[in-house]
Amino acid sequence: MSRAARLDLIVRLLQWHGDHRRPLPWRSADVRQRPPAYDVLVSESMLQQTRVETVVDYFDRWLLRWPALVDLAAADEAEVLAAWSGLGYYNRARNLHAAARAVVERHGGRLPEARADLAALPGVGPYTLGALRSIAFGHAEALVDGNVGRVFARWHALEQPPASAKGRAEVWRLAADWLTLAPAQAAPGQWNEALMELGATICRPRRPDCALCPVAERCQARQQGRQGELPLPTPQKPPTPVRAAAALILHRGDGPPRVLLGRRPLKGRWPGLWQPPMFEGQGSAATLATWLHSAGWPPGTELPALVHVLTHRRYEVHSRLIHSATQDPPSPLAGHEPLRWWSLAEALTARRGLSRLAVRLLEQVAVSGEDYLSPCGG
Ligand code: ADE
Repeated sequence: MSRAARLDLIVRLLQWHGDHRRPLPWRSADVRQRPPAYDVLVSESMLQQTRVETVVDYFDRWLLRWPALVDLAAADEAEVLAAWSGLGYYNRARNLHAAARAVVERHGGRLPEARADLAALPGVGPYTLGALRSIAFGHAEALVDGNVGRVFARWHALEQPPASAKGRAEVWRLAADWLTLAPAQAAPGQWNEALMELGATICRPRRPDCALCPVAERCQARQQGRQGELPLPTPQKPPTPVRAAAALILHRGDGPPRVLLGRRPLKGRWPGLWQPPMFEGQGSAATLATWLHSAGWPPGTELPALVHVLTHRRYEVHSRLIHSATQDPPSPLAGHEPLRWWSLAEALTARRGLSRLAVRLLEQVAVSGEDYLSPCGG
């Protein structure tokens, strides 16, 4: 693309962004005004791997609870993880919290502007570094996320998947290269956000809306009629299979039906979330049977296996449905501390506090033929 064509594309994209960008709680009403760095850090941490529509609600609640970085730094990790519950990829929450603490310790509570200082914060990789430096501080720093990678792959008809090693290097090179021209027209943060906005709303992964695209006539994929085919997909590794065994222990007394749940440790997957007692790995069914026996519960009946697929793992969970005659305090179980009786209805409708897998396991009770869920069920 000639320099003149590139400048024309930049002007059109920025104009479109100024007119059409979505009003979002972490954005200033005026496109030229930079948002607070803390807002950028929180929103960009949430937006990695999670859709904008989901993040809006979490972001608003987060800022109400911890309006400034120093408030977040003073929070308890368990509280932070609970507020993140439902967004997944909990390392993002741990890192955000650790970064806030590091900023208080090293920089007196103000997010630093210097590259090296930002890059040294927990969880600040090249993408977040680019977002903070350009959007919050106005520096000419490139960024690439999935949206930007796709936009460049189409504009330049790249033959490499943008998430492959070669493709990634190429889209970062393009991002830096475009940024050398863009600041002549607008702040680098506006340019970076315009690229992401285009990718999120028009240049979508499937069926891009070229009719509405302000720069369609400059797009090489479009010129070649390959906008549906590019970017090329990255070959995926299949998720690792994980066998697990869970116990759905129910008690129906005078009150509403109750279910026994344990709390996961703060380290690892689903930190601090509640779930039915569950064991993972080869031999998990036997481990579960041994634990049930030693805790004095009957073996119960087997339910159909439940398959639950995460990004890198495919769980096959074999559950047993057990009726407990009593609601005695259960004996402790490692990795499930504390164990506690919950109202089944409350657990099923808890929006936070349980992993999606835990809720799906509990939903099996509904299809088990037992009438635990009927309104007069106890
Ligand atoms: N996706 C992630 N961050 C974004 C931003 N700042 N603007 C638009 N889409 C985004």
